[in-house]
Amino acid sequence: MAVRPVLRYPDPHLRQISRPIEVFDDELAALAADMKDTMYLAGGAGLAAVQVGALVRLFVIDAEVAGRPADDPPLVLVNPELVSISEEQQTGDEGCLSFPGIFVPVRRGLRVRVRAQDLQGQSFEVEGEGLFARALQHEHDHLSGRLIIDLVGPVKRQIIKRKMRKENEAEAS
Ligand code: NI
Repeated sequence: MAVRPVLRYPDPHLRQISRPIEVFDDELAALAADMKDTMYLAGGAGLAAVQVGALVRLFVIDAEVAGRPADDPPLVLVNPELVSISEEQQTGDEGCLSFPGIFVPVRRGLRVRVRAQDLQGQSFEVEGEGLFARALQHEHDHLSGRLIIDLVGPVKRQIIKRKMRKENEAEAS
């Protein structure tokens, strides 16, 4: 297990489409384990594989966010599909480990149902509401290269771009 570097906007990988996972092997388990460590260290609610440069349909969600005891292992979703999104919506501040320090109000479905596979390839479904539903939709967006910056108006978009440019310059120097 190891912590992997998290790609930051505007890294072009973040815009790519993640491909389905077909092989459920030790390599996949190792990737998921690293993602859990990485999310845990960064204090994130969720992390998609593309954010550590692996273009596969996999994300993890913090146990507490998923409505489980805080010391439970994070929820791992392989090949997740949004089965349904409620018409009822919620608006709340949303962050992303690829946009450190940035929180923007994003409108999402209040409840979602997601079908996925576990690390052994076994299918399961989860239902999320509130923060859990938000995290599921946010991470699912990552699999098709969609980011929080796409979900805000043009003024906020410019502010985020400027902040990220500064952040990345500070990181590089
Ligand atoms: Ni994110």
